[in-house]
Order: sequence, then C-alpha cells, then structure tokens
Amino acid sequence: MPLIIQRDVSLETLNTFGIAARARHFARVETIDDLHALRERSEWNDSPRLILGGGSNLLFTRDFEGLVVHVALTGREHLGDHGNHRLVAAAAGENWDALVRHTLREGWPGLENLALIPGSVGAAPVQNIGAYGVELVERFAWLEAFDVASGRIVRMDADDCGFAYRDSVFKHELRERVVITRVAFRLPKLWQPRTEYGDVRAMLESRAIQHPTALDVADVVTAIRRAKLPDPAVIGNAGSFFKNPIVSAEIFDAICAQEPGAVGYPQADGRVKLAAAWLIDRCGWRGRSLPGSSGRAAVHDRQALVLVNRGGATGAEVFALASAIQTSVADRFRVALEPEPVII
Ligand code: EPU
Repeated sequence: MPLIIQRDVSLETLNTFGIAARARHFARVETIDDLHALRERSEWNDSPRLILGGGSNLLFTRDFEGLVVHVALTGREHLGDHGNHRLVAAAAGENWDALVRHTLREGWPGLENLALIPGSVGAAPVQNIGAYGVELVERFAWLEAFDVASGRIVRMDADDCGFAYRDSVFKHELRERVVITRVAFRLPKLWQPRTEYGDVRAMLESRAIQHPTALDVADVVTAIRRAKLPDPAVIGNAGSFFKNPIVSAEIFDAICAQEPGAVGYPQADGRVKLAAAWLIDRCGWRGRSLPGSSGRAAVHDRQALVLVNRGGATGAEVFALASAIQTSVADRFRVALEPEPVII
C-alpha cells in the first residue's frame, strides 16, 4: 500500500485522554518503507512533526498544525537465548500489555510488574515506564530507531537512551528527531518475583500466595491497576499526570513536621521521592474539578495523581486544572510538580 497523507484528521480516538484535537496532516506508518517515503514528502519536511504511538502519555491543548505520524509497525520475535537471558523484540506499534501477556504465555517472565500499562511498545522507552517496583530500563536490551536526518536505522543501548525516572533522551534532545521502530528486552532465565511494592505484597498475602509465579504477579498488578486507575477505554486519562517529585531530606522533614503522614521513599542519593498523589490529596483535590469550570476535567476519585476527562473536556480545561493543582501544592508544600505526559 502506498503511503497516504490525510488532511484535517481527528485525533480523538488516538489519545487516551480522548481530547478532540485535530491534525493538519496525518500519516499511518506500517512499514520502514513508509518512513522512507514520508521523508520525501513536503508535509514531513516543511511543518512540525509529532510521532504518535498509543497516545497514552500525551495531552493535546490545541490542534496540531503539522504532521502527526502514527506508528503502527507490528511484529514480535524471540531472538534467542544469550547467557542468562532471553532476548525478545517487538515492533514499536505493538500494544504494550499484549506483549507482556505474550511473553508470559510463552513462559518468559520479566515484564509482569509492568502489566496493563496503556500504550505501545515504542512509547515505553520514551518515558521509561515503571510500575510496582520495576522500570523498563531493568529489562531493556536495545532499541532501533529511524534517524530522521540520515534516513537510517540506528541501534541504541540503554546508555544512549539516557533513561531516568519517567524520562529519556526521546523526551528531550531526540524528540521528533528519531522514530523508535523496534525495542528488544532482556528477560532473565533465573527469575525471582519482584514483590517489594506494598500493594503487591498485600494482595498476594490476601490471596494466600506464598511463592508467586510471574502470572500471579501480573494478575495481582492487573487487579490493583483496575481497582485504582481508571480504564482509558471507559474514562479518558493519561495515567499519572505528574511525576513524583524528588526533594532533599530537609524539605521532606519540613513537610512531615507540617503535616504528619507524608508519604516518601528514600533514594540512593539521600533525597526522598514524595508521593505526589498524597500532596494533591492533602490539598483536597481528589475527585474534584476546577471551581467554576464545566467539571468535565477532574481529578480521579481513587488516585489523586490521575486527571480524567469525564467526557467532552478540552485539553485546555485539563491543563487549567493541572495548573491549579500545581499552584495549590506549591503554596502549601513549596514543592513544584512536573507534568509527566508530553503537553502539546
Ligand atoms: N495516595 C494518596 N492519595 C491518593 C492516591 C495515593 O495519598 O489519591 C498515597 C498512597 O497512600 C500511597 C502513595 O500515595 O502511599 C503512592 O500511591 P500509589 O502507590 O498509587 O503510587 P503513585 O506513586 O501515585 C506511581 C506511578 C504509577 C505506578 C504506581 C505503582 C509515577 C508518577 N506514578 O504512582 O505510574 O503505576 O506508582 O508503581 O511514578 C504512570 O506513570 O502513569 C503511572 C500510573
């Protein structure tokens, strides 16, 4: 199929917030040849570009006056065993949770703590997805990306990707300069369950599971996510809207003195990662929307870190709510919250 560039396309079903933004130009990329073909087109060269995967970590506050490239590359491969690891690769357009379930069905543990995270395989490294004690970087082998300037596929290892907490070079210096096409994972053959996260431990105990399999862990993680996090298929959202801020031990102590019960996790460098959900909750935002607004953009009632589109919200409404939350938290705790999704 030749590559088609469409004009004035709705992005409503292509972002998990369900924001009704539009793209001036839109192309769906199904093969590497499509990327080569795109590079020859004026729409690609003369206007801003946005690379879109599952649209699960993105907030549109306006229409996109450029070219949206929807990456729909598919395919999964077992690349064989390397020492104590299995190497599994998936194309960027594959659904993340489907890959997790596929590896578990094959009897290859390693990705179970990351079950049910919305989005695509190609988006996973962009924000170094993480949940329930495991981050993507721990299972990452390498990725391949289409370099926009040269038109060549480059291979990048973890160091090249600059992974950090919900961060990578793909959010910064390489943003829109490469298109991630394939990601490979290193899955341990000598597997140990990772159950240190409180909620996971508690649910395994309540199910009387003492020696969990990878499938048990995936099922527990899935159950916790279903209980706490809204399903984007039902109510629009992009998961956590803010990163958990990392502050000095002095600031954390000051917050605890001001309001006992603050939730913080000590980091290796002596600083403390604060639970942003707790800060937002303490400011009274859980389940609420911006006073005087339409109420269509709101804070989720079971997880204060998640903003939701109750139906028909504009990106600007979500953004206004997020800004008001940042102001409340800064006024009360002197802590700056940084949005996690990419804001367009
Ligand atoms: N809490 C509140 N109020 C709330 C919700 C939580 O006070 O409304 C407190 C809880 O008591 C808990 C603490 O905040 O002690 C942390 O809450 P939770 O365990 O739900 O995790 P989180 O820090 O809010 C992070 C990730 C999630 C990930 C979970 C589990 C970030 C920004 N978020 O949330 O990731 O699923 O841990 O590992 O790091 C995402 O990135 O989109 C995402 C959903």
